[in-house]
Amino acid sequence: DRTLTLLGIETSCDDTAAAVVRAPAGGRPEILSSEVLGQTALHEAYGGVVPEIAARAHAERLDGVVAAALAQAGVGLEGIDAVAVTAGPGLIGGVLSGVMLARGLTAARGLPLVAVNHLAGHALTPRLTDGISFPYLMLLVSGGHCQFLLVKGADSFQRLGGTIDDAPGEAFDKTAKLLGLPQPGGPSVEAEAASGDPDRFRFPRPLLDREGCDMSFSGLKTALLRARDALVAEKGGITVQDRRDLCAGFQLAVTEVLATKTARALAAVADQRPTALAVAGGVAANRAIRARLETVCARFGLPFVAPPLRLCTDNAAMIAWAGIERLRLGLATPADFPARPRWPL
Ligand code: KG4
Ligand code: ZN
Repeated sequence: DRTLTLLGIETSCDDTAAAVVRAPAGGRPEILSSEVLGQTALHEAYGGVVPEIAARAHAERLDGVVAAALAQAGVGLEGIDAVAVTAGPGLIGGVLSGVMLARGLTAARGLPLVAVNHLAGHALTPRLTDGISFPYLMLLVSGGHCQFLLVKGADSFQRLGGTIDDAPGEAFDKTAKLLGLPQPGGPSVEAEAASGDPDRFRFPRPLLDREGCDMSFSGLKTALLRARDALVAEKGGITVQDRRDLCAGFQLAVTEVLATKTARALAAVADQRPTALAVAGGVAANRAIRARLETVCARFGLPFVAPPLRLCTDNAAMIAWAGIERLRLGLATPADFPARPRWPL
């Protein structure tokens, strides 16, 4: 074992990202740089990420983002021991941009290449930021993902359940759209909810009485739409206070589903003695949700680990770190590995 310095590359959705992470053998890892170039403005007019636009933007911008990450870290390619790249799951055009660049860089310099699963990158982040030990329970909640993982090792994940339809972030974004609030919906709905009455509208908590850790969030937006339309039919529009109350009711429903299922997941893995509950994903920024998850953790006597937001959302430091963890296990990747749009952990 020796100090490893990896370049990480992430292009699986709508962020073009590159980072350099250095990890001394047995010491605390250090993020030397982490560049993230988002594409929100490019997709804004279409109401969602357009794969062709994303692919072209990654292809155009990735070289510059990688150069910026290397410059910011103060190391050239000659200071890099290996390159880690997201090989899926995600939009295939973007993933291919990253994989082709990583192949080129490593072939030219005779370096090892490490293919990383994007979800493994999120799931291993609490070890980069907080150094927690295996096994731990991870709740991944973003605009695209929602699942519980028991993280047993850098290459060992047990999925305990997740959403059967929308991700919670998607539900926040759709709620904001229905109520005329700005995107991304999470922060704007949270801000409205802060001065709303969460008990005025009672929204459904789907699957709460069903066994296991699966969740569902798509029914929530239908219920919200119905409540909004009922107000409009009754008095011709919704007031500022109506909107706050709708947001508060919606947020409470999401929070209660996540908290109840987290408790169930912790109970299900109790015999494996998890060291912590960790969260990742943009929705983990929500203060009401965080507070409830902390309460659940306290009940189980476990620490609650929430990495800083810039490392909870998509970034390449998590990919470089997952690459370091895999290399330490001797898991370098054959040069002909595939880019995979679907890749369950
Ligand atoms: O992890 P992320 O940046 O991107 C992926 O989906 O991969 O997550 C973005 C999602 C968006 O849906 C956004 O509305 C949601 O996270 N989000 C929040 C909050 N901040 C961001 N949801 C609830 N409360 C927030 N404060
Ligand atoms: Zn992600």
